Amino acid sequence: MRIIVGISGGIAAYKIPFLIRLLKKNGADVKCIMTPSAKDFISPLVLSTLSNNPVGIDFWNKETGVWNNHVQYGEWADLLVIAPATANTISKMATGACDNLLLATYLSMRQKTLLVPAMDLDMYQHPTVKRNFEQLSSDGLHILPAESGELASGLFGEGRMAEPEMILKKIQEILDVKPLLLGKTILITAGPTHEAIDPVRFIGNNSSGKMGFALAKRALNLGAKVKLICGPTTCVLEHDSLEIIPVITADEMLFNVQAHWSTSDIGIFSAAVADYKPAKMEVEKIKKSDAPLQLTLVKNPDIVQWASNNKSAKQLTVGFALETNNESENALTKLLNKKMDIVILNSLNEKGAGFEKDTNKITIFDSKGATKIFNLKQKSEVAIDIFDHIIEYSK
Ligand code: PMT
Repeated sequence: MRIIVGISGGIAAYKIPFLIRLLKKNGADVKCIMTPSAKDFISPLVLSTLSNNPVGIDFWNKETGVWNNHVQYGEWADLLVIAPATANTISKMATGACDNLLLATYLSMRQKTLLVPAMDLDMYQHPTVKRNFEQLSSDGLHILPAESGELASGLFGEGRMAEPEMILKKIQEILDVKPLLLGKTILITAGPTHEAIDPVRFIGNNSSGKMGFALAKRALNLGAKVKLICGPTTCVLEHDSLEIIPVITADEMLFNVQAHWSTSDIGIFSAAVADYKPAKMEVEKIKKSDAPLQLTLVKNPDIVQWASNNKSAKQLTVGFALETNNESENALTKLLNKKMDIVILNSLNEKGAGFEKDTNKITIFDSKGATKIFNLKQKSEVAIDIFDHIIEYSK
């Protein structure tokens, strides 16, 4: 979800940081635009910090020299949410007035707009305001009516802005975000494993964890509970339904998969697990010498194989195959040998695919014989394709 939160100058603006946090926790990308008077109610610094994006206020930011392009905002967003929407902003929207960045963005919106009004009760009941609501409603806007309760003026009645949780629910309804995995628990492995040689050295690989975190984010968006067992990574993700279990080695990863597998519905094994580890870790740092150094490596346990061998009829295992040659053949062999339901092939021969990058190019094979080839995409979009396939496969 790409959401622009447009804030006009009303006291209910104090609720907007909570809305931004909720949106971010639910996987949305958020940008904020304020009317100039909204700055009197909430600091742009709070909004930019929470949304992790600069806040648009003027068409031209005189300090940075940056031109805030309302057309680009309109193209970027899946939804514009104007909250709080004051009587003044609503009236300008109803007539097509365009004297600030938020109104210009509204007129440039390619997608939908949600209006969340907040004002005092007499204003809310005024025939002019009601007429403006009718106009905007017939223009195709979604309106989340104000709630009844105590108002900033001390009066009691209709006019309170809807609570952030209600706004989020309405946004999900408008954007048709379906919690298709509600009630399901998804176990995901991500990142590399590090196998210690001595206290300062290890065997590892280039996995960043980005693919696994993108999968976790998508699963959360679909309403699932996620257990993310990940090797050393700098990726971060926060969500009430997310449990991150950090590990270092393949043995630790296996231990945690074993602990959580029986309570999971689907396992997605995107971690780049080291296939081998040193037979023994030296207690002290190995000293450099002129003699060649030989390490004895022993095989690590195969984690996805363990999960496949221990799955019930209702559980699914989904693995990855990272290949450099005979890609499809090797992926299909892994699907069979590791008794997985689905395997996702990514090849290091494809530009933009595999480790560290924000993009990936995958082919999905499943045990029912399906093959689907996808174009190079952002890992967030690849995660959508993977879950679409899992949901289809499970039907
Ligand atoms: O983390 P990123 O930088 O975003 O990169 C993503 C990725 C390239 C690491 C990811 O897309 C990927 O391909 N992950 C699997 C890497 C890998 O180890 O592939 P493999 O072909 O060696 O292993 C096949 C499957 O067995 C994988 O699901 C792997 O998690 C699993 N496996 C492998 C070895 C082992 N001991 N235990 C396992 O469970």
